[in-house]
Amino acid sequence: LSREEALGYWFEADTQTYVAEDAGRAVGTYILRPNESGGGSHVANAAFMVAPEARGQGIGRAMGEHCLSEARRLSFRAMQFNFVVSTNESAIRLWKQLGFKIVGTLPGAFRHPEKDYIDVYIMHRSLLEDHA
Ligand SMILES: CC(C)(COP(=O)(O)OP(=O)(O)OC[C@H]1O[C@@H](n2cnc3c(N)ncnc32)[C@H](O)[C@@H]1OP(=O)(O)O)[C@@H](O)C(=O)NCCC(=O)NCCS
Repeated sequence: LSREEALGYWFEADTQTYVAEDAGRAVGTYILRPNESGGGSHVANAAFMVAPEARGQGIGRAMGEHCLSEARRLSFRAMQFNFVVSTNESAIRLWKQLGFKIVGTLPGAFRHPEKDYIDVYIMHRSLLEDHA
C-alpha cells in the first residue's frame, strides 16, 4: 500500500477518522464507518493503529472504548471487524475484552510475508445492550 493509498483508505467518504494525541503528538488513530452500504449500513466497521513505540500503554483500549461509544452515539446496532489476522494476539485479546466474539474463520485468507497462508477471523459485537 502506498502512502497515498493508505491515506485514501483512512479518509474515505462516509468514514469518521479519529486521532489519539499525547502531548501534541499523534500516537494512535482509528476509523469508524458503516460496514456495508444500504441494508447493511446499521452495522459499523472500525480499524485501529497505535504507533509502535506507544503500544502496550492502554491507547488501543481507550480508542476501542471511545469507538464503541461513538458507534452508539451514531446509532449503529452492532460492530463488525472483517479481517482480524489470527496471529494478531494482542488485538484479538483486546477485542474479546471489549465484548467481541469470533463469529467466523476465513481459512488461509491472509498471505503472511513469512508464515504462509493463515486464517482470518470475523469478529462481532452487538451495541444494543451493554455486555462488554
Ligand atoms: C492492536 C493495537 C491497536 C493495540 O493497541 P495498544 O495501545 O498496544 O493496546 P493497549 O495498550 O490498550 O492494550 C490493550 C490490550 O491489548 C492486549 N495487548 C497489548 N499489548 C500486548 C502484547 N504485547 N501482547 C499481548 N497482548 C497485548 C492486552 O490484552 C491489553 O490489555 P491488558 O493490558 O489488560 O492485558 C496495536 O497493537 C496496533 O496498532 N497493532 C497494529 C495494528 C493492528 O493490529 N490493528 C488491529 C487490527 S484488527
